[in-house]
Amino acid sequence: MKDALSRSTIMAGLTTRYIGRAIEHYAEIDSTNTRAVELARAGAPEGTLVLAEVQTAGRGRLGRPWHAPAGSSLLMSLILRPALAPGQAQRVTMVCSLAAVEAIETTTRLRAAIKWPNDLLIHDKKVGGVLTELGAGSGRLDYVVVGMGINVNLDVSTLPELMAPATSLSAELGQSTSRLSLLLALLERIEYHYEWLRRGRSPHEAWRQRLATLGRRVQVTTPGEVWEGVAEDVDADGALLLRTDAGELRRILAGDLTLRGHLPDQHRHPRLP
Ligand code: BTN
Repeated sequence: MKDALSRSTIMAGLTTRYIGRAIEHYAEIDSTNTRAVELARAGAPEGTLVLAEVQTAGRGRLGRPWHAPAGSSLLMSLILRPALAPGQAQRVTMVCSLAAVEAIETTTRLRAAIKWPNDLLIHDKKVGGVLTELGAGSGRLDYVVVGMGINVNLDVSTLPELMAPATSLSAELGQSTSRLSLLLALLERIEYHYEWLRRGRSPHEAWRQRLATLGRRVQVTTPGEVWEGVAEDVDADGALLLRTDAGELRRILAGDLTLRGHLPDQHRHPRLP
Protein backbone atom coordinates (compact mmCIF):
# COMPACT_ATOMS: atom_id res chain seq x y z
CA MET A 1 0.00 0.00 0.00
CA LYS A 2 1.26 3.46 -0.89
CA ASP A 3 1.25 5.23 2.45
CA ALA A 4 3.29 8.35 2.06
CA LEU A 5 2.95 10.74 4.95
CA SER A 6 4.33 14.11 3.94
CA ARG A 7 3.44 17.75 4.43
CA SER A 8 2.06 17.94 0.90
CA THR A 9 -0.08 14.76 1.02
CA ILE A 10 -1.46 15.84 4.39
CA MET A 11 -2.17 19.40 3.23
CA ALA A 12 -3.89 18.08 0.10
CA GLY A 13 -6.39 16.07 2.14
CA LEU A 14 -6.80 18.21 5.25
CA THR A 15 -10.34 19.41 6.01
CA THR A 16 -9.62 21.29 9.24
CA ARG A 17 -9.43 25.05 9.83
CA TYR A 18 -6.49 25.13 12.22
CA ILE A 19 -5.67 21.65 13.54
CA GLY A 20 -2.65 20.34 11.61
CA ARG A 21 -2.33 23.45 9.41
CA ALA A 22 1.28 23.97 10.59
CA ILE A 23 3.29 20.76 10.30
CA GLU A 24 6.79 19.56 11.08
CA HIS A 25 7.43 16.08 9.70
CA TYR A 26 10.62 14.25 10.66
CA ALA A 27 12.15 11.11 9.17
CA GLU A 28 13.66 10.59 12.64
CA ILE A 29 13.47 12.51 15.90
CA ASP A 30 14.06 11.78 19.58
CA SER A 31 10.42 12.36 20.54
CA THR A 32 7.67 14.35 18.82
CA ASN A 33 6.45 15.40 22.29
CA THR A 34 9.83 16.85 23.20
CA ARG A 35 9.87 18.83 19.96
CA ALA A 36 6.25 19.98 20.35
CA VAL A 37 6.90 21.20 23.93
CA GLU A 38 9.91 23.14 22.60
CA LEU A 39 7.75 24.69 19.87
CA ALA A 40 4.90 25.46 22.28
CA ARG A 41 7.27 27.25 24.65
CA ALA A 42 8.59 29.27 21.70
CA GLY A 43 5.04 30.43 20.87
CA ALA A 44 3.97 28.05 18.05
CA PRO A 45 0.32 28.49 17.11
CA GLU A 46 -2.50 26.30 18.28
CA GLY A 47 -2.95 23.30 16.00
CA THR A 48 0.76 22.88 15.20
CA LEU A 49 1.48 19.22 14.48
CA VAL A 50 4.78 17.36 14.86
CA LEU A 51 4.99 14.00 13.09
CA ALA A 52 7.77 11.43 12.83
CA GLU A 53 8.43 8.20 10.98
CA VAL A 54 10.54 6.92 13.86
CA GLN A 55 11.49 8.13 17.35
CA THR A 56 14.78 7.33 19.05
CA ALA A 57 13.46 8.24 22.51
CA GLY A 58 9.68 7.91 22.22
CA ARG A 59 8.02 8.35 25.61
CA GLY A 60 4.97 6.67 27.05
CA ARG A 61 3.06 7.36 30.26
CA LEU A 62 4.68 6.72 33.65
CA GLY A 63 8.18 7.18 32.24
CA ARG A 64 7.96 4.17 29.97
CA PRO A 65 9.60 4.03 26.54
CA TRP A 66 7.35 3.95 23.46
CA HIS A 67 8.52 1.61 20.70
CA ALA A 68 7.49 1.70 17.06
CA PRO A 69 9.52 0.53 14.05
CA ALA A 70 10.06 3.16 11.32
CA GLY A 71 6.97 3.89 9.23
CA SER A 72 4.79 1.45 11.18
CA SER A 73 2.76 3.89 13.21
CA LEU A 74 1.19 7.26 13.56
CA LEU A 75 3.58 9.13 15.87
CA MET A 76 2.39 12.65 16.45
CA SER A 77 2.14 15.51 18.89
CA LEU A 78 -0.31 18.36 18.67
CA ILE A 79 -0.07 21.77 20.34
CA LEU A 80 -3.31 23.14 21.80
CA ARG A 81 -3.92 26.28 23.84
CA PRO A 82 -7.28 25.87 25.57
CA ALA A 83 -8.58 28.59 27.90
CA LEU A 84 -8.77 26.16 30.82
CA ALA A 85 -7.33 25.80 34.31
CA PRO A 86 -4.49 23.26 34.65
CA GLY A 87 -6.82 20.91 36.55
CA GLN A 88 -9.06 20.71 33.48
CA ALA A 89 -6.31 19.57 31.09
CA GLN A 90 -7.64 16.01 31.15
CA ARG A 91 -10.54 17.31 28.99
CA VAL A 92 -8.10 17.90 26.17
CA THR A 93 -6.81 14.34 26.50
CA MET A 94 -10.43 13.13 26.46
CA VAL A 95 -11.05 15.06 23.23
CA CYS A 96 -8.06 13.42 21.56
CA SER A 97 -8.73 9.86 22.81
CA LEU A 98 -12.35 10.16 21.72
CA ALA A 99 -11.28 11.50 18.32
CA ALA A 100 -8.81 8.61 17.93
CA VAL A 101 -11.47 5.98 18.62
CA GLU A 102 -13.82 7.60 16.12
CA ALA A 103 -11.11 7.97 13.47
CA ILE A 104 -10.08 4.31 13.84
CA GLU A 105 -13.70 3.24 13.48
CA THR A 106 -14.46 5.34 10.42
CA THR A 107 -11.30 4.43 8.56
CA THR A 108 -11.11 0.71 9.42
CA ARG A 109 -14.61 -0.28 10.66
CA LEU A 110 -12.85 -1.90 13.64
CA ARG A 111 -14.57 -1.28 16.93
CA ALA A 112 -12.29 0.70 19.23
CA ALA A 113 -12.51 1.73 22.87
CA ILE A 114 -10.63 3.59 25.58
CA LYS A 115 -9.07 2.00 28.63
CA TRP A 116 -8.89 4.50 31.48
CA PRO A 117 -7.13 6.81 31.53
CA ASN A 118 -6.07 7.04 27.89
CA ASP A 119 -5.11 3.80 26.20
CA LEU A 120 -6.72 3.01 22.87
CA LEU A 121 -7.96 -0.56 22.61
CA ILE A 122 -9.26 -2.96 20.03
CA HIS A 123 -10.81 -6.08 21.50
CA ASP A 124 -9.07 -5.39 24.83
CA LYS A 125 -5.60 -5.12 23.28
CA LYS A 126 -3.67 -1.86 23.20
CA VAL A 127 -3.50 -0.28 19.75
CA GLY A 128 -2.35 3.15 20.88
CA GLY A 129 -1.78 5.58 23.69
CA VAL A 130 -1.90 9.25 24.55
CA LEU A 131 0.69 11.21 26.51
CA THR A 132 -0.28 14.74 27.49
CA GLU A 133 2.22 17.30 28.73
CA LEU A 134 1.34 20.81 29.72
CA GLY A 135 2.65 24.23 30.55
CA ALA A 136 0.76 26.62 32.83
CA GLY A 137 1.11 30.01 34.44
CA SER A 138 -1.13 32.22 36.64
CA GLY A 139 -3.74 29.50 37.07
CA ARG A 140 -4.23 29.05 33.28
CA LEU A 141 -2.93 26.54 30.80
CA ASP A 142 -0.39 28.07 28.46
CA TYR A 143 -0.16 25.01 26.21
CA VAL A 144 -1.14 21.37 26.11
CA VAL A 145 0.92 18.98 24.00
CA VAL A 146 -1.02 15.84 23.18
CA GLY A 147 1.24 13.04 21.97
CA MET A 148 -0.39 10.09 20.30
CA GLY A 149 1.07 6.81 19.13
CA ILE A 150 -1.15 4.48 17.10
CA ASN A 151 0.08 1.09 15.89
CA VAL A 152 -1.04 1.08 12.27
CA ASN A 153 1.00 -1.28 10.09
CA LEU A 154 2.99 -2.84 12.87
CA ASP A 155 4.01 -6.45 13.40
CA VAL A 156 3.29 -6.77 17.13
CA SER A 157 5.79 -9.61 17.51
CA THR A 158 8.53 -6.94 17.11
CA LEU A 159 7.40 -5.15 20.29
CA PRO A 160 9.04 -5.80 23.66
CA GLU A 161 7.09 -8.15 25.96
CA LEU A 162 6.26 -5.36 28.37
CA MET A 163 3.96 -3.74 25.81
CA ALA A 164 1.72 -6.82 25.68
CA PRO A 165 -1.14 -7.32 25.15
CA ALA A 166 -0.75 -5.10 22.10
CA THR A 167 -2.22 -5.07 18.64
CA SER A 168 -2.17 -2.97 15.49
CA LEU A 169 -4.75 -2.00 12.90
CA SER A 170 -3.06 -4.24 10.31
CA ALA A 171 -2.99 -7.20 12.73
CA GLU A 172 -6.72 -6.81 13.35
CA LEU A 173 -7.59 -6.21 9.69
CA GLY A 174 -5.29 -8.88 8.24
CA GLN A 175 -3.92 -6.27 5.81
CA SER A 176 -2.15 -2.95 5.90
CA THR A 177 -4.08 0.27 6.08
CA SER A 178 -3.43 3.94 5.27
CA ARG A 179 -1.77 6.07 7.93
CA LEU A 180 -2.67 9.13 5.89
CA SER A 181 -6.43 8.40 5.90
CA LEU A 182 -6.29 7.71 9.63
CA LEU A 183 -4.37 10.93 10.32
CA LEU A 184 -6.76 13.07 8.25
CA ALA A 185 -9.79 11.58 9.99
CA LEU A 186 -8.13 12.01 13.38
CA LEU A 187 -7.33 15.69 12.84
CA GLU A 188 -10.89 16.32 11.64
CA ARG A 189 -12.37 14.60 14.71
CA ILE A 190 -10.01 16.42 17.08
CA GLU A 191 -11.04 19.78 15.67
CA TYR A 192 -14.73 18.83 15.91
CA HIS A 193 -14.57 17.84 19.60
CA TYR A 194 -12.09 20.56 20.49
CA GLU A 195 -14.41 23.24 19.07
CA TRP A 196 -17.15 22.02 21.42
CA LEU A 197 -14.70 22.14 24.31
CA ARG A 198 -13.76 25.73 23.37
CA ARG A 199 -17.47 26.61 23.49
CA GLY A 200 -17.63 25.28 27.03
CA ARG A 201 -18.97 21.78 26.55
CA SER A 202 -16.94 19.04 28.26
CA PRO A 203 -16.24 15.86 26.23
CA HIS A 204 -16.67 13.89 29.45
CA GLU A 205 -19.93 12.08 28.68
CA ALA A 206 -18.96 11.08 25.11
CA TRP A 207 -15.57 9.92 26.42
CA ARG A 208 -17.19 8.02 29.27
CA GLN A 209 -19.43 6.17 26.78
CA ARG A 210 -16.29 4.93 25.00
CA LEU A 211 -14.59 3.50 28.08
CA ALA A 212 -14.09 -0.26 28.01
CA THR A 213 -13.30 -0.06 31.71
CA LEU A 214 -16.54 0.65 33.53
CA GLY A 215 -18.33 -2.14 35.37
CA ARG A 216 -15.29 -4.41 35.15
CA ARG A 217 -12.92 -5.83 37.71
CA VAL A 218 -9.64 -4.00 37.50
CA GLN A 219 -6.32 -3.60 39.21
CA VAL A 220 -4.97 -0.04 39.46
CA THR A 221 -1.37 0.73 40.30
CA THR A 222 -0.66 4.22 41.60
CA PRO A 223 2.69 5.45 42.93
CA GLY A 224 3.10 3.38 46.09
CA GLU A 225 -0.28 1.59 46.05
CA VAL A 226 -2.13 -1.17 44.23
CA TRP A 227 -5.94 -1.26 44.30
CA GLU A 228 -8.29 -4.03 43.20
CA GLY A 229 -12.00 -3.70 42.71
CA VAL A 230 -14.68 -2.72 40.24
CA ALA A 231 -14.31 0.37 38.06
CA GLU A 232 -17.62 1.97 38.95
CA ASP A 233 -17.46 5.30 37.13
CA VAL A 234 -15.35 8.29 36.16
CA ASP A 235 -15.96 11.84 37.40
CA ALA A 236 -15.98 15.13 35.49
CA ASP A 237 -12.22 15.56 35.90
CA GLY A 238 -11.60 12.11 34.45
CA ALA A 239 -10.72 10.51 37.79
CA LEU A 240 -11.60 6.82 38.19
CA LEU A 241 -14.09 5.87 40.89
CA LEU A 242 -13.04 2.44 42.06
CA ARG A 243 -15.20 0.33 44.37
CA THR A 244 -12.60 -1.60 46.34
CA ASP A 245 -13.18 -5.11 47.61
CA ALA A 246 -13.58 -3.58 51.08
CA GLY A 247 -16.58 -1.63 49.72
CA GLU A 248 -14.96 1.82 49.79
CA LEU A 249 -15.22 4.19 46.82
CA ARG A 250 -11.72 5.44 45.90
CA ARG A 251 -11.11 8.39 43.60
CA ILE A 252 -7.98 7.77 41.56
CA LEU A 253 -6.65 10.62 39.43
CA ALA A 254 -3.84 8.78 37.65
CA GLY A 255 -2.52 5.27 37.51
CA ASP A 256 -1.93 2.18 35.48
CA LEU A 257 -4.97 -0.02 35.04
CA THR A 258 -5.14 -3.72 34.22
CA LEU A 259 -8.45 -5.18 33.10
CA ARG A 260 -9.34 -8.31 35.04
CA GLY A 261 -12.99 -8.93 34.20
CA HIS A 262 -14.73 -9.97 31.00
CA LEU A 263 -15.18 -7.81 27.95
CA PRO A 264 -18.62 -6.17 28.01
CA ASP A 265 -21.05 -7.16 25.24
CA GLN A 266 -20.81 -3.89 23.32
CA HIS A 267 -17.08 -4.44 22.78
CA ARG A 268 -17.29 -8.13 21.96
CA HIS A 269 -17.77 -7.86 18.18
CA PRO A 270 -14.62 -6.26 16.85
CA ARG A 271 -16.10 -5.15 13.50
CA LEU A 272 -18.74 -2.52 12.93
CA PRO A 273 -21.52 -3.21 10.43
C1 BTN B 1 1.20 5.58 26.51
O1 BTN B 1 0.28 4.80 26.23
O2 BTN B 1 2.01 5.32 27.41
C2 BTN B 1 1.31 6.87 25.75
C3 BTN B 1 2.14 6.69 24.51
C4 BTN B 1 2.34 7.96 23.74
C5 BTN B 1 3.34 7.76 22.62
C6 BTN B 1 3.39 8.92 21.69
S1 BTN B 1 4.26 8.54 20.20
C7 BTN B 1 4.22 10.20 19.73
C8 BTN B 1 4.45 11.03 20.98
N1 BTN B 1 5.87 11.23 21.22
C9 BTN B 1 6.29 10.59 22.31
O3 BTN B 1 7.47 10.57 22.73
N2 BTN B 1 5.27 9.98 22.91
C10 BTN B 1 4.02 10.20 22.20
